Amino acid sequence: MEFSQDILTNDERVILRLRMLYKQYGYSQYRTSRFEEYALYADNKAFLPSGDIISFTGIGGKLMALRPDVTLSIIRNEAIGSGEQTKLYYNENVYRSDGNEFREHMQVGLECIGDIDVASTSEVLMLAKRSLEQLDRRSCLDISHMGFINGMLQDLELTPEQKKQLLQRIKEKNIHELNKLCTEYMLGDELRHSIVTLAGIYGSIGDCIPLLHDISKNNETDTALRELESIRDILQQSSADRDINLDFSIVNDISYYSGIIFQGYIEGIPTKVLSGGRYDMLLRKFGKRSGAIGFAVYLDLLNRYESAQTDEIINIALPKGRLGDKAYSIFESAGYGCPAVHEDSRKLVFESPEKGVRYFWVKPSDVSKYVERGAADIGIVGKDILLEHMPDVYELLDLNIGKCKMCVAAQKGYCACRGDQMLKVATNYPNIARSYYEKQGRDIDIIKLNGSVELAPLLGLSDVIVDIVETGRTLLENNMEPMQTIVDISARLVANEVSYKFNHKAISVLCAAVTSQVGT
Ligand code: PRP
Repeated sequence: MEFSQDILTNDERVILRLRMLYKQYGYSQYRTSRFEEYALYADNKAFLPSGDIISFTGIGGKLMALRPDVTLSIIRNEAIGSGEQTKLYYNENVYRSDGNEFREHMQVGLECIGDIDVASTSEVLMLAKRSLEQLDRRSCLDISHMGFINGMLQDLELTPEQKKQLLQRIKEKNIHELNKLCTEYMLGDELRHSIVTLAGIYGSIGDCIPLLHDISKNNETDTALRELESIRDILQQSSADRDINLDFSIVNDISYYSGIIFQGYIEGIPTKVLSGGRYDMLLRKFGKRSGAIGFAVYLDLLNRYESAQTDEIINIALPKGRLGDKAYSIFESAGYGCPAVHEDSRKLVFESPEKGVRYFWVKPSDVSKYVERGAADIGIVGKDILLEHMPDVYELLDLNIGKCKMCVAAQKGYCACRGDQMLKVATNYPNIARSYYEKQGRDIDIIKLNGSVELAPLLGLSDVIVDIVETGRTLLENNMEPMQTIVDISARLVANEVSYKFNHKAISVLCAAVTSQVGT
C-alpha cells in the first residue's frame, strides 16, 4: 500500500519533518515512560518552567509524577560516557500547569550530550532555526549567553537579592528601572552604561557583537564573547545566520544553565515556541562531567494560535478612564493621533492605518493581559498592576503620569508596635502586600477586597490596608493616615515580547517619539 502524506494532520506532518531533520544529523529517538519518580522533579524544580507537578502514589507506595519534562529523564536514565557524543531526539507529551490548570503539551526536542564545542553548539542552533522554519511561518531565533550575563554581575559588591533585581530588569528590558537601581546600588557610570547596553541589545548577531566588545569587562565575559564570535563565524559561513538575533533579556536559572541559551518565536504566537540552551550544570548535579545542549519545540502552541492574524498595524491597549486619556494625548502629540478618538461615541476600537496604529480601551487591570497574550502589541498600564500580576511583558518606558504611591495605611492613632500578633491586611493587591510583609518576616492575614478598601479598618475588618494613595484625600476624610510607602507607582509602556521582536523597528520608533514627549 502506498503511503500518502495527505492523511497526516498538520502536527503529524511537522513532527515527521522534524524527525527526518534530526535523524539526518545523527540523532536517534529516545522514548520514555509518562511516569517518573516525583523526587526527580522535586529536586530540580528550578529547571522546570512551572513548579506544579501532577503526582500520585505508585503501587509500591512510592510518590510518582506525570513527567513535566523529558530532559531530566534523559540525563538520569542515559549512560553518558565521557568523550563520545550522545545525540537523542524525542517526541513526547509533557504535563505542566499554566498557572490556572494543568495541560498536556506536545513536545519535540533534542539533546546533544558529551564533549560540546562551538561546532556542535552551532549545529544545535542551526537545527533549532531549521526546526522553526518547518513551522511554515515567519520565525526568529534569539540567543543569549549566561556566561556573559554572569560575568557582568560577577564581581559587583551586591547581595544575591540585588543581583536578582538587576537580572529581573534585564529580563524586562526595563532601562528606566535599571538606571534607578544602578544609582541606588552606587554602581558608577561605566557599569551603568554596560548593564543598560546589555539590556537594550536586540539585533542580528553580526550587528550586536561589536556592542559586546565595548562592554566586556572580565575573563568570563571575554570567554563568552569569543564563543559568540566563533558561533557567528560558523553560522555566517553556512549562511545560517539569517533571523538569528542577540537578546540578553533571555535569562535562565544560573544553577542549571552555563553558556548559550536561546528561544524561538513564530509570528502570530505571543510566546516562545522553542526553548533551549547549554545545561552542563544540570549534569553536574547528576554527577556527570560532560557537557550538554538541547532544545524543545512546543508544538501544541501551533494549534492554539492557528488562526492568529498578523498585520502591519501596532495594536495599543489603553486603560479606560483619565489615565488612558492622558496616555492617548501623549501618543497624539508624538505623532500617532487618530482623529476618530475625539468623536462622541461608545466605540472601543479606533484605527489610523496612515499612522500604523490601532487603539482600544480596556479595563485598566486587563491591559497587561491583552499585551501578555499578544492581543495588543503594546499597552499602558500602572506599575501597581505589573507588580501585582507579574505578567511576562517588556517594560519599555515610564510615562511619568498617573503618579501615586502604594502605601500601608491605618486609622489615625493605630499602634503598629504589636508585632507578635497576626496583622490583618485588607487590600486589592494581595501579592504586593504578601511580598512586602514577607521581606519583614511578618505573618499576615490577607483580606482581598475589590474596592473601597479604606472601609476595612473603620469597620474592624482589618488592622491596616495596602492601597494606592494619590492625593491622600480618601485617607484624610476617613480619619486614616499613611504609615509606610511600599513603592512609587506610575504608568508604564509595556510590550508583548514576541511583538517587540517582529515589529522591533516600528515599536522602537514609537517609543523614541513617546520618550521625546515624556522626557524619560
Ligand atoms: C483609589 C485607591 C484609593 C484612592 C486614593 O481608589 O484605592 O481609594 O484612589 O486616591 P486619593 O489618595 O487621591 O484619595 P479608586 O478611586 O480607584 O476606587 P476604589 O476605591 O474602588 O479602588
